[in-house]
Amino acid sequence: MLRRSLLKFLVATPLGRMAAGLAAALASAVAIYLDLLQIDVKRRDRETGGGELYLPYPRLRGSVSVEEALANRRSVREYREEPLTIEELSQLLWAAYGISETTHGLRTAPSAGAQYPLELYAVVGERGVKTGDGYLAAGIYYYNAHSHSLTLRKPGDFREELYHAALEQTWVLKAPVSLVFTAVYHRTTRVYGERGRTRYVPMDLGHAGQNVYLQATALGLGTVAVGAFYDEEVSRILDLPPDETPLYIMPVGRPLLSYRLTEKELIQYYQRRRATR
Ligand SMILES: Cc1cc2nc3c(=O)[nH]c(=O)nc-3n(C[C@H](O)[C@H](O)[C@H](O)COP(=O)(O)O)c2cc1C
Repeated sequence: MLRRSLLKFLVATPLGRMAAGLAAALASAVAIYLDLLQIDVKRRDRETGGGELYLPYPRLRGSVSVEEALANRRSVREYREEPLTIEELSQLLWAAYGISETTHGLRTAPSAGAQYPLELYAVVGERGVKTGDGYLAAGIYYYNAHSHSLTLRKPGDFREELYHAALEQTWVLKAPVSLVFTAVYHRTTRVYGERGRTRYVPMDLGHAGQNVYLQATALGLGTVAVGAFYDEEVSRILDLPPDETPLYIMPVGRPLLSYRLTEKELIQYYQRRRATR
């Protein structure tokens, strides 16, 4: 009887309908929150499974201007057989997707609704990264942006497997380190729906990818954004969970040849173009 009159109140009166709507909204908010909590706990377990390796703190000053980095950035596919230093790797990871605001933990790359759908890994080759007293163990490392640390996810040199997965592009085999960006699409699609998938996540990736390019250039390193690879193969090599999709592989190394654009060269280019219009 009580249930019937409650139901009648909820369905038949405007106040009841509003109360029912509010209750439904609250229930779905709680469900989403619990869902997120669950995802977060699982992800944290996965991240900290192998022990954390704290990276040197990133530098916030450098000697190369933004203009110089923009002018001298090229996709670099040939590297010297030399390791990166742990400081260089630290700086690249921070530039890619590190923390640049400490109230809300905002990042170096803009992100639609600050949802930060990307994850970042470093595939480190044998003797690929020099530390103070030796080399970082070869392996696949997960980047924890908030503690600026790495977690070893899989020991071993996976560059050859990654090279095969990337249609045998030799720069993936030869680079001492490859950064791999992945995306957890639902972080963005739950807010923006399909537009999040088709537009915002790729845009977020572009921003972070360009950060890697510019930071690499400023450090005298070279990189190339590699989008051509077999998704399933890369997911298998990185042991990605089902909700994570690999998007970019960015091999990084010391360029065999350096690229420099001079102002004179650029001005002459514009003058030639202007003369033929
Ligand atoms: C979405 C995207 C995917 C790319 N995929 C590859 C790739 O699989 N292999 C590669 O060698 N370069 C790849 N590139 C790099 C482009 O070839 C390169 O940016 C272009 O030739 C212009 O040269 P620049 O980067 O030196 O200006 C990719 C670039 C973008 C933006």
